Amino acid sequence: MVTASAPGKVYLFGEHAVVYGEPAVPCAIELRAEVTVTERSEGLRVQANDLSLDGFTVEYDGDASGRPDIDVADSLVEAAMGYVNEAIAQVEDAAGVDGSGFEVQIDSEIPLGAGLGSSAAVAVAAIEAGTRELGVELPPEEIAERAYEVENAVQDGQASRADTFCSAMGGAVRVEGDDCRQIGTPDLPFVIGYDGGAGDTGALVAGVRALREEYDFAADTVEAIGDIVRRGEDALADGDLEELGQLMNFNHGLLSALGVSSRSLDAMVWAARDGGSHGAKLTGAGGGGCIVALDGSPETITALEYTPGCEEALRAELDGEGVRVEEQS
Ligand code: PMV
Repeated sequence: MVTASAPGKVYLFGEHAVVYGEPAVPCAIELRAEVTVTERSEGLRVQANDLSLDGFTVEYDGDASGRPDIDVADSLVEAAMGYVNEAIAQVEDAAGVDGSGFEVQIDSEIPLGAGLGSSAAVAVAAIEAGTRELGVELPPEEIAERAYEVENAVQDGQASRADTFCSAMGGAVRVEGDDCRQIGTPDLPFVIGYDGGAGDTGALVAGVRALREEYDFAADTVEAIGDIVRRGEDALADGDLEELGQLMNFNHGLLSALGVSSRSLDAMVWAARDGGSHGAKLTGAGGGGCIVALDGSPETITALEYTPGCEEALRAELDGEGVRVEEQS
């Protein structure tokens, strides 16, 4: 039995545009997904708790036909099961085995589909736990690459390496195409607002793609997000929180123009700005879920707590540690 964990993330800048080769800067946060893998004679049994579903157990032999009987959107359940199936396929490929049985238990603090990288964290932790259970130790870079293959398979070839590299390596990272590296940052006082909802990453990515193909100005908007990220890198190097906040505000406006914000995300962004934060934007695919703001004072959290539509407001520390083994026996 091996238990591994991996962190979720917020995007300081660059989600969606990163899918088209622009740079992005995701930052790992101290909210983790824990996955325990135990080898067994045959079949796959998956047990999930706290995935902002009520928790489910499903048992099946290798294919994804098993479906838990729970009252949530099919797309969310299929996605969750898809990530586990693909992660197990990566584990078997890395260990050079075929058709082994596994018991997989998922305990995640990261809400599902809310823009905090829950699927990437589950994929990364599952690959680490599964390969170690089979006696294979992979470097975090390879876990990141294999977890990217998982996301790519589940998201129909429309994924970037940003979430998975960030979750495997920890800290702040810069991702541009297949060029992925860790970067230094000043102390970043992240505040997160969560509307209790979720977005469908695949559908949102497809929506941006369609706009980009139809309108030159939408393609220009995607490029402008890349320009914001490049300016943001200078602001990070200078430790200039004012400028970072300004750029986050601009980034949110462009994401909103691309149709991936929502009423509740906009309400939380405005509350965070009114609360005196340096800046605020949605994080991740959008459509619902979370915003991230920069504020070292308690005021943005208070402002969010009084905002209709905000279910939870919390401070999130940057997590310098990526994937790690929690327990092995
Ligand atoms: O919402 P999340 O955590 O799945 O992030 C999606 C980020 C996108 O840039 C929209 C897609 C991707 O794979 O990079």
